[in-house]
Amino acid sequence: MNLPSSPIASRRLHVITWGCQMNVYDSARMTDVLRPLGYAPADSAETADMVILNTCHIRDRAAEKVFSELGRLRVIKQARAEAGQDTILAVAGCVAQAEGREILSRAPYVDIVLGPQTYHRLPEMVARAARAGGAVIETDFPAEQKFDFLPDATGPQLPGGVTAFLTVQEGCDKFCSFCVVPYTRGAEASRPAASVLAEARLMVGQGVREITLLGQNVNAYHGDGPDGRTWGLAGLLHALAEIPGLARLRYTTSHPRDMDEALIEAHAALPALMPFLHLPVQSGSDRMLGAMNRGHDAAAYRSLVERLRAARPDLALSSDFIVGHPGETEADFEATLALVRDIGFAQAFSFKYSPRPGTPASGAPNAVPEPVKDERLQRLQALIREQQDAFNAASVGMTMPVLFTGHGRKPGQIGGRSPYLQAVHAAGSETLIGTEVMVTIEAMLTNSLTGTLLRERAFA
Ligand code: SAH
Ligand code: SF4
Ligand code: F3S
Repeated sequence: MNLPSSPIASRRLHVITWGCQMNVYDSARMTDVLRPLGYAPADSAETADMVILNTCHIRDRAAEKVFSELGRLRVIKQARAEAGQDTILAVAGCVAQAEGREILSRAPYVDIVLGPQTYHRLPEMVARAARAGGAVIETDFPAEQKFDFLPDATGPQLPGGVTAFLTVQEGCDKFCSFCVVPYTRGAEASRPAASVLAEARLMVGQGVREITLLGQNVNAYHGDGPDGRTWGLAGLLHALAEIPGLARLRYTTSHPRDMDEALIEAHAALPALMPFLHLPVQSGSDRMLGAMNRGHDAAAYRSLVERLRAARPDLALSSDFIVGHPGETEADFEATLALVRDIGFAQAFSFKYSPRPGTPASGAPNAVPEPVKDERLQRLQALIREQQDAFNAASVGMTMPVLFTGHGRKPGQIGGRSPYLQAVHAAGSETLIGTEVMVTIEAMLTNSLTGTLLRERAFA
């Protein structure tokens, strides 16, 4: 195969992103890595000289979904070839890491397979694929940290974006019984604080006002500090809060076990740290938490939430739940419902347990029948929906700062998010996009709120 024959400045790259926010960040960084080779974004696979499918392996038939998308991309690649245009097809992300060989044998038209830790080597892989004409696979965990080799991030993940993700920690050593992440992302590693701070400053210089720090266990962050000491996440947040122009900070995903005192205090001390925390608990049953290898019980989670709420009384919480993990009884499930009722979540994600190849739970006895999982999921989701609606309804009448990020649902409206991560729409000038404005919330729609800008009310 040849490198795309079009002139260097007009090569086009199309990235398809599935999975978590870290994949969104990774897709942006892969785009950064390929820009010096002349690749600019394409709107569709049909018009792209290179397509990257950035995959997720967390649940369900992840691999099947990948093969079906690859089938579609194969047709596009063939049609382009008939028109004399080459297409490089790359599969990246967590399915690539877990099932790289399988991908190459079942989809031999794929040119490059790369794991999440090797994408700094993409330019070299592209050159090798072009030279050798055979497939290139890079799914080892390299000794070097990719962040030391990446070019500067070009800023927000969306052009003109007001909010952005920034990966500070990656990988996981916790090995929950059900989870593939430790196998696909590798061992826990943290970026040096100076490199995170430099990237944050760059983003702010390009108009970003809210940064969400990312990590599979972001609060396990332990990066080298510029003072020669190891910094925890709290130290990093304190330093980021000093950056002029950076209005808001968030971090995700946290593990209850890594929530230390300094981080709890940061919620009291830092106004820029938004009062919304995603803190997955998975189950409210101690028996299940043990089987899942979560390393804490339900009481520890409850008392952690109490301490967080003492530090930041308006803290809104979100969580992840799994129903139907092997061995889960009706009593275990009811303990989950009880925990949800007691804590009160502003929102939460809930999933049916899905056996992942190679994880300890996938071979466990006592699988929960599918209809039972379905029924539990429905009950849990109904309760979560009720709590979410109650939380949003309680916002009506409140006045709160909204960071406007773009156009609203209707003409003449702008849209943004509240401190509690609620979507808010209001009539207002688009010159306010990128700023935080006080808004009085007036009504609750299905998945968003509408309000009036306070200063417009003052003139009404
Ligand atoms: N690092 C995060 C979670 C990452 S995965 C944490 O420790 O909480 C995101 C969510 O997907 C998990 O919180 C879990 O609820 C869900 N999940 C992971 N593996 C799953 C599986 N095998 N089946 C169903 N849900 C799963
Ligand atoms: Fe997966 Fe558990 Fe690690 Fe979260 S802490 S990424 S659920 S193994
Ligand atoms: Fe999916 Fe990998 Fe993220 S499995 S959830 S893309 S870490």
